[in-house]
Amino acid sequence: MQYIMKGGNPLVGDVLISGAKNAALGILAAAVMTDDTVIIDNLPDVQDINVMLSALEEIGVSVERPDRHVVKLNGSNIHTVRVDNEYIRQMRAGYYLVGALLGKYRHAEVALPGGCNIGQRPIDLHLKGFNSLHAKAGIEHGMVVADATELRGSHVYMDVVSVGATINVMLAAALAHGDTFIENAAREPHVVDVANMLNSMGANIRGAGTETIRIRGVERLHGTDYSIIPDQIEAGTFMFAAAVTRGDVTVKNIIPKHMEAICSKLKDMGCEIVEDDDTIRVVSRPRLISCNVRTSPYPGFPTDMQPQIGVAMCLAEGSGIINESIFENRFKYLDELTKMGADAKAKGMTAFIRGVERLTGAEVNALDLRAGAALVLAGLAADGITTVNNIHYILRGYENFDEKLRGLGAVIEIVKDPKESRKFRLRVS
Ligand code: UD1
Repeated sequence: MQYIMKGGNPLVGDVLISGAKNAALGILAAAVMTDDTVIIDNLPDVQDINVMLSALEEIGVSVERPDRHVVKLNGSNIHTVRVDNEYIRQMRAGYYLVGALLGKYRHAEVALPGGCNIGQRPIDLHLKGFNSLHAKAGIEHGMVVADATELRGSHVYMDVVSVGATINVMLAAALAHGDTFIENAAREPHVVDVANMLNSMGANIRGAGTETIRIRGVERLHGTDYSIIPDQIEAGTFMFAAAVTRGDVTVKNIIPKHMEAICSKLKDMGCEIVEDDDTIRVVSRPRLISCNVRTSPYPGFPTDMQPQIGVAMCLAEGSGIINESIFENRFKYLDELTKMGADAKAKGMTAFIRGVERLTGAEVNALDLRAGAALVLAGLAADGITTVNNIHYILRGYENFDEKLRGLGAVIEIVKDPKESRKFRLRVS
């Protein structure tokens, strides 16, 4: 499958943002830590979520989907704590099941995480966290195995700020004995969302969103009805889509506070930003102005927005530098952009981008989720036709991406074979 698009139309209009994928993945794991029923609303209907739900079903969780964006889970009949299938091996967040099952059953075996190939992505901090809770956690035969006779609260210092390790330790510690303190914790909105969700199940977690999280273990968790926060990265992607196409887009159903770093860079690049209670409007200009950016943990500029701002810099007036401080392999998309006429090169974790007046359509390859989305933005801004291959990466994390873009006036479709692609070309030429 490919996305095929004809660029050049400014995107204009309103777009409704879905629930946050990365929050949802932690929340689904949390949901099975009780034997009561949990209802989760504002669930994004994307591939990663559906893989997680099928993994849960395989271990005995009852999964009902009364609506595309609602799921009803009951984890009282879990019959195994071993989670292994080819799909879970391809995603990153399967590791949340280690924390959740270790907390609930004191034992878990989960296939080693995959996910986007954007760097080494070790899990040593997750293991260190579980071991601090007096579990024995390690890697055996390609599985993450964690076992505890008793989980006891403790101090866990994160050497590196890690979203995944913070959430994972929080999950296990929610049902440990005594207090756990996570120091140098990640402060991302989805860390806070998972903590809020656990608290709504009866957990006692304070300080999520700050550098120190205190988790006072409770005996048991109970059912809840919880709505997931909006997806900060999906919203940011549409805001940059407006910027690069010289458009005027309002992202709706968002939390503006989560968007501060992104808004600040869009303003630096010359866009007008109009903020309301749960919407942000981005009005672009004929030519963006380049900037420098450094990715860092929240509240810094998110690494998951780095390829999207990279595309904007490729089209901006002047030159700029990107410092990627989180993942060491996140600039491969620049080679794809050079096929479209961009003037950009990377050295290590730094990229140098000289803006050009226009990009031209080409056939490019999505190399991971966010880089894939960024190439779509480039295609929508470019002259002529662009095809983006390997879109399964993009479908992992963006709900109805093409449909939402068409709603803003983009000329884009998913095509399955050369015949469909020829038809598209004929129609738009
Ligand atoms: C999550 C997000 C991902 C986002 C990233 C950073 C999910 C499913 N994915 O990934 O989209 O890009 O946060 O915001 O939520 N590290 C270690 N040891 C560990 C764990 C991490 O050294 O045990 C390092 C990583 O290599 C990286 C940094 O810590 O350099 C941050 O990674 P982390 O926040 O853990 O990313 P993920 O949770 O995998």
